Amino acid sequence: MAKPQINLYYKNVTIDELGEEHKITEMQLEDLATKTEPLISQLNKERKEGKTPYRDLPFETEISQQVKRLVAEIKDNYENLIVLGIGGSALGNIALQTALNPYMYNIDDKRRRGPRLFVFDNVDPVQFSSFLDWIGDKLDKTIFNVISKSGRTSETAAQFLIIREMLLDRLGANGLRNQIVTTTNAREGTLHEITRDLGFRNLEVPDGVGGRFSILSAVGLFSAAMCGIDIDLLLAGARDMDARVSNEDFYKNPAAVNAAINYHYYNHGKKISVMIPYSYHLKDLADWYRQLWAESLGKAEDLKGNEVHIGPTPVKALGTTDQHSQVQLYREGPNDKLFTFLQVSNFHNDLKIAPAPDCAPELAFLAGKSLGTLFNNEKRATEFALLQSQRPCLTVIFPEVNAYTVGQFIYLYEVTTSLAGALFGINPYDQPAVELGKEAAFALMGESGFKKLAQQIQPLTEVDGDFLV
Ligand code: PA5
Repeated sequence: MAKPQINLYYKNVTIDELGEEHKITEMQLEDLATKTEPLISQLNKERKEGKTPYRDLPFETEISQQVKRLVAEIKDNYENLIVLGIGGSALGNIALQTALNPYMYNIDDKRRRGPRLFVFDNVDPVQFSSFLDWIGDKLDKTIFNVISKSGRTSETAAQFLIIREMLLDRLGANGLRNQIVTTTNAREGTLHEITRDLGFRNLEVPDGVGGRFSILSAVGLFSAAMCGIDIDLLLAGARDMDARVSNEDFYKNPAAVNAAINYHYYNHGKKISVMIPYSYHLKDLADWYRQLWAESLGKAEDLKGNEVHIGPTPVKALGTTDQHSQVQLYREGPNDKLFTFLQVSNFHNDLKIAPAPDCAPELAFLAGKSLGTLFNNEKRATEFALLQSQRPCLTVIFPEVNAYTVGQFIYLYEVTTSLAGALFGINPYDQPAVELGKEAAFALMGESGFKKLAQQIQPLTEVDGDFLV
C-alpha cells in the first residue's frame, strides 16, 4: 500500500484572482527557483559536513533505541508523566501529544496508552500550585522529565527545585532518584552536574541541535513514547521527507517551494505568516512552528554582519474557531499576510450530522452530511473568501493525521526554516535575543554573576508614579 504523503499545495498564490500586485507570476517563480536551487545544494553540503545535526536525527537509531529501552523499563510504574521545560524543551512535546493522542487522553483511562501527560512550560504560581495540590498524594506514581539543554533556564530550574524538595520530603532520596528523568547536554551544564550527582536517569540533548530543532531527539521522543506514540513511524515519516527536501530540483522540493514563497511575500509587503490548521490535532504544531519560525528567522544581522532586522512574524490561528474572530481582519485589514492552511483529507473519526427538527427546516441542509465535510468546506469557504480579497493562500494537505504524516510535517518545516534562513542570508540556528532575556532574568533574581546587568535594568523596571493613570 502506498504510504500517505503530505503535500504543499501552492496554486492559490499564483492565480489571477489575486491581481498583479499579490500573485506570484510564472516568471517570479522561475526567479525564485533560480535563487533557491543553489541554496538547496549548499544545505545538502552543509549537512554532509555535519553542520546541521538536526537533519540526521531521524536516522539516529541509537537515540530511539535508548528512549524505547527506558520506556520499556519504567512505563508500567507510573500513572503520570510531568514534563518540566520551556520553549524548544516543551513545545514539541505538547505538539506531539495533541497531534497523536485522543483529545480526552488524560481523562479517559480506557483509551490512555500510557501515563497522563502534563507539560509545564511556565512559572505561573497559581497554575503550578493547583497542579501540586493535585499531584501531592500521587508522587510515587509520577515521573518527572526535566528537559533543559543549557541546564539552567530559570523557569525550568525553579520548577525542578520545587519538585526536588517535595519528592525529598515525601519520598526520601530514593524516591527522588526514581521519580526523575533528566534530558540535557551529556557533557556539561548545571542539569548535567545535578544528574551525575544525584544519580538520575538521563537522556541526551544532542550536540549542535538547538531547542527548537530538537523535537525528533530524546527531547520530544521520550514523552511521546511513554504515551504510546509510535516514534518509529514518526521518524520514518521524517526520513521520507528528508529525501524530498534534499531534492535539488526546486519544483520537486516542498521545503524549497515553501521557503521561496514565504521569502517572496516577505519582500512584497506580507511580513506576517499565518498558519491555520483545520484540525484540533494539528493546532499545537502551529504553536511549535511559531517558535521555530520566530526564533530562527527573526535576526538583527545578516551573515555578513550588516544590520537587517529581518524576519516574518508567525501567527497561529485555528479553523473554524478563528473564522469567527480573526477573518474580518484577515480579509479587510491590511493585505500584509500569507496564509498557510493545514487540511486533513480523512479524519480517523467522523460523525454524521443528525436530522433537523420539523420546526427548523432551515437546518436541513446540514442533516446527513459528515462533520468532517463541514469542517473541510469551512476551510474551502474561508480560503475562497480570502482569495476574493486578494490574500495569498498555501495549504499543507495531510491525507490523514498519524505519526508518519506528522513526522513528515515536522521535518518539512525544519528544512523550510533552514532554507528560508539561507534566502534571507541570516543564521537560523542561534537566538542571541532570547539569551539576553534569560540573563536579565538571572540579574533580576539576584544571580551574583549579573550584578552589573541588574544595575542597568533597575531604572527601566521601576514604576514611575507620574505615569500611572
Ligand atoms: O529554541 C531554543 O533554543 C529555546 O527556545 C530553548 O529551547 C529554551 O529557551 C529553553 O532552553 P533550555 O532547553 O536550555 O532550558
